[in-house]
Amino acid sequence: MSESSLYLDRYKITERLGVGGIGEVWLAYDQELDEKVALKFLRPSFSKEQTEFLKRETKQARQLNHPNILRVFDFHIQPDSPAAISMEYVSGGNLAQLMNSKRPVLEAEDIKDWLQQVCDALSYAHEKCGIVHRDIKPTNLMLDRDGQLKLADFGLASQIAPNLDPESEKVIGSRLTLHYASPQLIWNPSESHHLNDVFAFGVTVFWLITASYPFKDPEEDSWTWDPDNLLSMSRRRKEKGVGQKPVPEEWDYAIARCIAENPEDRPANFRKISKLLQIGTKPFAAVGTPPPPALKLSSADSIPSEEEKEEKKETAKRPFLVLLVAGLLGIVIGVAWGVYRLKKNSEPAPPPVERVNTLEDR
Ligand SMILES: Nc1ncnc2c1ncn2[C@@H]1O[C@H](COP(=O)(O)OP(=O)(O)O)[C@@H](O)[C@H]1O
Ligand SMILES: [Mg+2]
Repeated sequence: MSESSLYLDRYKITERLGVGGIGEVWLAYDQELDEKVALKFLRPSFSKEQTEFLKRETKQARQLNHPNILRVFDFHIQPDSPAAISMEYVSGGNLAQLMNSKRPVLEAEDIKDWLQQVCDALSYAHEKCGIVHRDIKPTNLMLDRDGQLKLADFGLASQIAPNLDPESEKVIGSRLTLHYASPQLIWNPSESHHLNDVFAFGVTVFWLITASYPFKDPEEDSWTWDPDNLLSMSRRRKEKGVGQKPVPEEWDYAIARCIAENPEDRPANFRKISKLLQIGTKPFAAVGTPPPPALKLSSADSIPSEEEKEEKKETAKRPFLVLLVAGLLGIVIGVAWGVYRLKKNSEPAPPPVERVNTLEDR
């Protein structure tokens, strides 16, 4: 692909966004629908089976409809053109890109709302749709321009990893298979179980908080399960001399459980993880946007105090009093009027008024 070229007579290729295990990702302008999209091009080396697999995964991902899941639009496959997946374009980058030399690690406070949104997205996908992600990692936690989290790349990576050419294996191998994959996934890459997502989520949070992986660095050593090497996030931060604020104790506990070797020791679902992390109950709150105006309870909604109840009773009595007084006043006025009329009728009639000629009479 190259800048300014036209893909399938429809998408104007604009800018290269990056490259991942599947291939290059480009920003494109959809001339048909008049909007920006991201196009993920499949490596030309992919076999027919791998392409078919990605097509099926795309079809499944299209079923997901959640504010914190990046939308997948279509799978494009045409003769003489590279295959591509079109998806929602987001301009806020990903969580890994928030880390730099000035800010080597993220604080729990900074990421807790985003993690809640990840938990919401995965609870929905696992429990409502029966779809697992299989590639949770910091670069797939993307942000839109309002700072709302969008979980990207549902189901797109793991099964094709073992069959890739050596070059792409390095990309996928170092990022996906080794660091974020559970021991069960390492042994059986096609295993599709939501507790593998729990494991990958644990490694992701560990990495965001400490800028390191919980287990032996695969660059230094071949990957081996080494629970003795597992430190809490707090201890890892101390060791590395990074971080400003203490990591909440409950986070150390929750993440250690997510990355437990035995799947049965992991939290059973993402609602539980959210509870363990104590990251609150703001299901779809947008991060980075001003909070919505506080809801005002109407007087009907609020629970009245004792004084308010008394006052209400008093207020309720008032109309009766007003009616009573008005009634009595009416009777008094009526009686007075009657007496006046009687008196008036008993008086002699006044003499007839003499007619005065006016100009009109003339
Ligand atoms: N939908 C998207 N919108 C904007 N940028 C994207 C999108 N998808 C991917 N990217 C960019 O392209 C890069 C490569 O993405 P990807 O192929 O998913 O690999 P990875 O997730 O392993 O980084 C990402 O890091 C990101 O910067
Ligand atoms: Mg990705």
